[in-house]
Amino acid sequence: MSFSVTAEQERAFQEDGIVKLHGVVDSRLLDELSCCFDWAVRHPGPTLSGDAEGDEFSFVDLGNPAGRMMYEKLIANSPFGRIAADLWQSEFVGFLSEEVYWKKGKADQTFWHQDTPYVPWRGEHWANFWIPLCDHPADYAIKVVRGSHKGIMYDGTTFNPSDPTEPLWGDAGTFPRLPDISAELAADPASWDIVSFDVEPGDVVVLHPHCVHSGGGADATMPERRTLVLRFFGDKSYYSDHLPDAPGMYENPPIESVNGGYLADGDLFRPERVVNVNL
Ligand SMILES: [Fe+2]
Repeated sequence: MSFSVTAEQERAFQEDGIVKLHGVVDSRLLDELSCCFDWAVRHPGPTLSGDAEGDEFSFVDLGNPAGRMMYEKLIANSPFGRIAADLWQSEFVGFLSEEVYWKKGKADQTFWHQDTPYVPWRGEHWANFWIPLCDHPADYAIKVVRGSHKGIMYDGTTFNPSDPTEPLWGDAGTFPRLPDISAELAADPASWDIVSFDVEPGDVVVLHPHCVHSGGGADATMPERRTLVLRFFGDKSYYSDHLPDAPGMYENPPIESVNGGYLADGDLFRPERVVNVNL
């Protein structure tokens, strides 16, 4: 199916760091995405956190290498590459990885964070395609601080429920600690300019991963939440050595370059075997 990005959607993504695209995913693609989600739950990868056991759980899996070919095949038969190219005005679009979120019964929100203090890359042309597989009211969907993709890099969070802003790097880095956005919003709903949308299957919310963002939890109002995220990078995407030389939350081994050797600070982010999915 074809989907055309409007000038207003392009502006929203550039300026706000987030945009909702309605009606991107047709029934065939939705079936394929659901199959990928089900496969991911049956085949958890090395960075799984949580599980999918019982009536209450949080299952969060990221970048399972065993699923890569499956996602590449789906993307090749989807409009996602073209949409990313249009939102960025980019020729090249590469697929980075997937994220799988399944929360059921009672589960915490994913605490406010940016993706960038966890990973060795930066630049304008990054996008998370956040794809709901069920209805999400805005309060349970992905939320961002408007325009924060153009702002500073905070420290990451360790996602500790008893301390939602516990620094990932702390003294090993020079990042400022995350503000406690949830607490500040509870005290004053106008304290942060938050963007989120009511969404349904068929919609895609695209956000820049440097945006300060938070994903919803599960509770009596929304007892089940299923979301798949596909992450892309474009012409203006670079390897970056901003991560402190200390153990972090995820392993970040050297990345082989498409040009041979390993990616170094400032290189275009072009890992070995990456293909252009701007079809
Ligand atoms: Fe994130």
